[in-house]
Amino acid sequence: MQKFYIETYGCQMNVADSELIITILKDKGYELTSDYKKADYIFVNTCSVREKAEQRVRGKLSLYKGLKKQKKLKVALVGCMAQRIKNKLFEEEPVLDIIAGPDAYKNLPELIKKADKGLKAADVKLSKTETYQEISPTKIDKNGVCTFVSILRGCDNMCSFCIVPFTRGRERSRSPESILTEIKQLVAQGYKEVTLLGQNVNKYNWNNKEVNFAKLLQKTADIDKNLRIRFSTPYPQDFTDEVIKTIARNENICNSIHLPIQSGSSRILEKMKRGYTREWYLERIESIRNHIPDCAITTDVIAGFCSETEQEHNETIELFRQVKFNSAFMFKYSERPNNYAQRNYTDDIDEDTKLRRLNEIIELQNKLSLESNKNDIDKTFKILVEGTSKRSEERLFGRNSQNKVIIFEANKNLIGKYVNVTVTDFTQATLLGEIRP
Ligand code: SAH
Ligand code: F3S
Repeated sequence: MQKFYIETYGCQMNVADSELIITILKDKGYELTSDYKKADYIFVNTCSVREKAEQRVRGKLSLYKGLKKQKKLKVALVGCMAQRIKNKLFEEEPVLDIIAGPDAYKNLPELIKKADKGLKAADVKLSKTETYQEISPTKIDKNGVCTFVSILRGCDNMCSFCIVPFTRGRERSRSPESILTEIKQLVAQGYKEVTLLGQNVNKYNWNNKEVNFAKLLQKTADIDKNLRIRFSTPYPQDFTDEVIKTIARNENICNSIHLPIQSGSSRILEKMKRGYTREWYLERIESIRNHIPDCAITTDVIAGFCSETEQEHNETIELFRQVKFNSAFMFKYSERPNNYAQRNYTDDIDEDTKLRRLNEIIELQNKLSLESNKNDIDKTFKILVEGTSKRSEERLFGRNSQNKVIIFEANKNLIGKYVNVTVTDFTQATLLGEIRP
């Protein structure tokens, strides 16, 4: 049997896509291996969101170039980078035999056949309809407790800094039936937590709003009260009170919302084509806090976007102080070829300034994260136990509804169960605690 190895870069959506690819290839008789040295085919599922992500992949390809000299091997680059650069990749990276964009995975068996004949094989067509909804993903997580289900592909938002709409194409929703069936199967397999995935998850829309995101959330929550539901990533513009109230109403929809702000300045937000203002965002935060008082809120932010002034950067800092995010993913602006910002603006903030601004945000957020964890001391949380801690087999880890990781001593047979844990200590990244009977 011929073996394939797959490695995944980037977001959870890419992990979900790798799980689809595994099913597609297994169905054709190929066998998955976790050792790339044993593989006849290596698949690299890539991310294009920042330049660094692409550089990392190119570094990895040079390793496979060496391996290819020693044995018979075909190398495939799939996902966003394949879609962005298309056939030109064959010139830039001669090691590649196959390239396939995110909507071309069903065609992989054909591409493999072509590559077996010694030809270069590519499919980078985007689809307006492909959702892979009839394919049951092969789960690759280690613990069998938490997993994700993709509900919406593509993105129609066209934020000016972003490459995703060009690499993942138009927005399209999966049918609610296919989503609910997949989740029920996961529950039957023993999964206790599901994260619904989409680039802009609250734009979920089936049959002209017959089922919108709030309704889908409710249907998901109704499957099993013991199943935890999370979702990623919502977009501030479409984050309605209906969604917030649905979260508030259901104990098993987690009280943790990741709401990317990107910038605290309304002028920069407009340049980013985000479609909301600082005030709008703050009003959404207020509504979340009113309806769900113990909700954790996290965010994404970009430092040093085109033409950002010191004053505008300080507006971001001020907004972080005001909102007190529980944690944040913080990036410096990375120009991406051929998107709106690259074609229409100048990437005029120098590297040192970008880095300094980014570090100012990180430094502040670190303090806020530490403070947020300190506030949890002596509180008792219902924790879903996910596995043993990286450092020690005797210690387990899990997360609370607010998505914070907590580490505690307990027997391994509690993995996959809910326990009450009281917080006794903390670091910036994690809580430490003790199990309560
Ligand atoms: N809607 C998707 C966005 C994917 S990109 C989601 O929310 O998951 C994830 C994050 O990467 C974005 O929220 C943004 O903060 C950051 N990002 C996107 N393009 C970027 C760029 N060109 N430079 C720096 N950061 C970027
Ligand atoms: Fe990118 Fe904005 Fe969509 S960040 S993925 S264009 S919501």
